[in-house]
Amino acid sequence: MFPTGFVWGAATSAYQIEGSITADGRGTSIWDSFCSQAGRIVEAHNAEIAIDHYNRYRDDVRLMADLGLSAYRFSVSWPRIQPDGSGSYNAKGLDFYKRLVDELLSYGIDPWLTLYHWDLPQSLEDAGGWPARDTSKRFADFAATVHAELADRVRNWSTVNEPWCAAFLGYASGEHAPGRREPEAALRAAHHLNLAHGLAVQAMRAQSADSQIGGCVNLYAISPATGSEADRDAARRIDGLQNRFFLDALLKGAYPEDVLEDLGHISDLAFIQDGDLATIASPIDMLLVNYYSRFTVSGAPGGAASAAAAPTDSGSPWVGSEHVGFVNGGRPVTAMGWEIDDAGLFEVLTRLVDEYPRIPLYISENGAAFDDALGDDGTIHDPQRRDYIEAHLRICHAAIEAGVPLQGYFAWSLMDNFEWAWGYGKRFGLVYVDYESQVRTLKSSALWYADTIRHGGLLGRAQ
Ligand code: FCB
Repeated sequence: MFPTGFVWGAATSAYQIEGSITADGRGTSIWDSFCSQAGRIVEAHNAEIAIDHYNRYRDDVRLMADLGLSAYRFSVSWPRIQPDGSGSYNAKGLDFYKRLVDELLSYGIDPWLTLYHWDLPQSLEDAGGWPARDTSKRFADFAATVHAELADRVRNWSTVNEPWCAAFLGYASGEHAPGRREPEAALRAAHHLNLAHGLAVQAMRAQSADSQIGGCVNLYAISPATGSEADRDAARRIDGLQNRFFLDALLKGAYPEDVLEDLGHISDLAFIQDGDLATIASPIDMLLVNYYSRFTVSGAPGGAASAAAAPTDSGSPWVGSEHVGFVNGGRPVTAMGWEIDDAGLFEVLTRLVDEYPRIPLYISENGAAFDDALGDDGTIHDPQRRDYIEAHLRICHAAIEAGVPLQGYFAWSLMDNFEWAWGYGKRFGLVYVDYESQVRTLKSSALWYADTIRHGGLLGRAQ
């Protein structure tokens, strides 16, 4: 049994589900542009329709209520609300999120709002994108406006989803929008995404003391392939770029010295200005953690290529540590090729407690893609997804018993959706979506999750 008040949620993001990319005055985002470029997205899929959530949100909220979710994590689309990323706001865009939130509240579902899940207005990319410092200020203005309009009905706010991905997949490997391959620019982007977080926290805090405000990071468990010095150094480097660069900044107000040293030959880092780290470390009420897998890494020359499992032609996201190889850790994998390692979640959570100031934690994303098939009887039987989620929930429970202040869990994702560069080929949903008819069907994992929520904990394995 989980503690009373444990938050049982599911998550989505605007670009992956909404569609209607030109409706009601929405501006263009970097993902719209990226999808229109040849070779960027598997099978040239795009998100023009996605799963039509913009029109079907009422039905989707009813599904959430059927599942018994206590909370729903979603993101707002910046270009829907502020088409050019600066200047005037679009009331119709804001109204969509007001209607969505009101619908959630009418069912007693707590809205958890993420301000940025990667859909930067194209105008801001044209002005330099995240490598430009001004984008952080634009984001803080945007955050303040959304917060002013919605804080009366949304209590839980988070700033930037997975800044690592936005910076290093967007600007170093080019696997994600805007698809640039500029390692130095990616470092600037990473810093400016952190700064954007800090400035937004300050702006929202100044408007309301009631809001619960957090940052959101994607953390990995990381192991060296062997005990060799080279492999241990590889693990230190990848942990530094993936985990500590963001955690140390947000929670300790400093970038890790060893990471800055690793990066010294790429950049003089002069874009990190006096006072920035204090801004970035503005107090937050909670940390949102997305967890999927473990990396096993090797520093030996000739190790495996480092851009693990990118669907399209892309460079390395590991700026300054491009030599690191990602090796097979010998675990079962999901349809993404991501190794399943629930024990890694325990490491990640206990590490947060051991190495960082104590702060309420939430798993804001966790889940798996598998090749689901609609059965002849119209049902979808996805025991692997259920097993994945159940195993990770067991770890959440064990972590709470061990004293970790973990207060909730959001499955990724509520529904199948547009999985970025992978297009629609990878299904992460608890709910199956037929992309032709837009019919939604609860998978067996969704029915199991609903039972778990109703019970307030995990039932026996025989169930
Ligand atoms: C995370 C993203 C989310 C989804 C999952 C599978 O990195 O935040 O949008 O793509 O991975």
